[in-house]
Amino acid sequence: MQPIQHFASDNYAGVCPEALAAFVAANAGHAPAYGEDEWTRKVSDRLRELFETDCDVYFVFNGTAANSLALASLCQSYHSVVCHELAHVETDECGGPEFFSNGSKLLPAHGAQGKLTPASVLEVISRRSDIHYPKPRVVTLTQSTEVGTVYRPAEVAAISACAREHGLRVHMDGARFANAVASLGVAPAEITWKVGVDVLCFGGTKMGLPVGEAVVFFDRRLSEDFAYRCKQSGQLASKMRFLSAPWLGILEDEVWLKHARHANAMAQRLASGLMQVPGARLMFPVESNGVFCELPPAVLDGLRARGWRFYTFIGAGGARFMCGWDTLPASVDALLADVRALAG
Ligand SMILES: Cc1ncc(COP(=O)(O)O)c(C=O)c1O
Repeated sequence: MQPIQHFASDNYAGVCPEALAAFVAANAGHAPAYGEDEWTRKVSDRLRELFETDCDVYFVFNGTAANSLALASLCQSYHSVVCHELAHVETDECGGPEFFSNGSKLLPAHGAQGKLTPASVLEVISRRSDIHYPKPRVVTLTQSTEVGTVYRPAEVAAISACAREHGLRVHMDGARFANAVASLGVAPAEITWKVGVDVLCFGGTKMGLPVGEAVVFFDRRLSEDFAYRCKQSGQLASKMRFLSAPWLGILEDEVWLKHARHANAMAQRLASGLMQVPGARLMFPVESNGVFCELPPAVLDGLRARGWRFYTFIGAGGARFMCGWDTLPASVDALLADVRALAG
């Protein structure tokens, strides 16, 4: 039997019912265009409440645009951005951050378990200080990281302190911010502006929205003219209410956290099962909704032959299994049963 759910990406999931209901509810009559509507105002206010601060909020269509435009707003063309070598901005955005910033260079840094540290940031920014090197201006952190780990508030605070000391701003790629908050059990403010984050790209799509991410500026001075950047890059939705309204559905009653907790719990279920399989080795601590596991090539091939989809882009023999808001325990168990059968 072919699997009915996949573990390749949390983007394989559909729209969660709460977001869909809010989307449909917004489809009533006429409303002002380009973000002047009631829904967009309400969601922005809800996000200010959630983050317990008077931040500036913008909605764009996807994470690449959110990251690229946010970073562009922090940089001049001769600046550079320190990122982890596995960061999505470095590996999966087709040069978007460089393009939208007119050339600001990404400077990849090492770091265990997908995380930067003050030392790894320092190593990159103190390599050179001459006129020929792009001037370091930003540190970008991914929360949750590309390998499913999560920065603790103290870790972000330490990196921010180091950044401040060297005149750098702090950007957070929060494509899976919800999973990190669910995992840490902290208030969103505790892992963002209170520990020095200037701008957060808050992922909506992976939380169950049909489309769209929120760019949240905690330092409002940095959002100057951001609306023009969105417009120029084709990211200003004319019918903005349909980009913003779904957020209302998930921000109500902490639905976003409920879905993120569920996805994280499914990853734990999968990880526990994999740990029992001979020849399987977890590559990173499972702290959010992704499980990275080394499996023998025959098992990986066998899984593919049985119809399972997953990525293998980290390490030799490493598979990434992502869980989403809709992942069923039965799907996890079916995947585990096939892994066990193939591992013999
Ligand atoms: C860490 C991270 N950042 C950002 C994104 C957003 O990318 P997209 O432009 O596909 O929405 C993703 C999506 O996979 C991601 O994993």
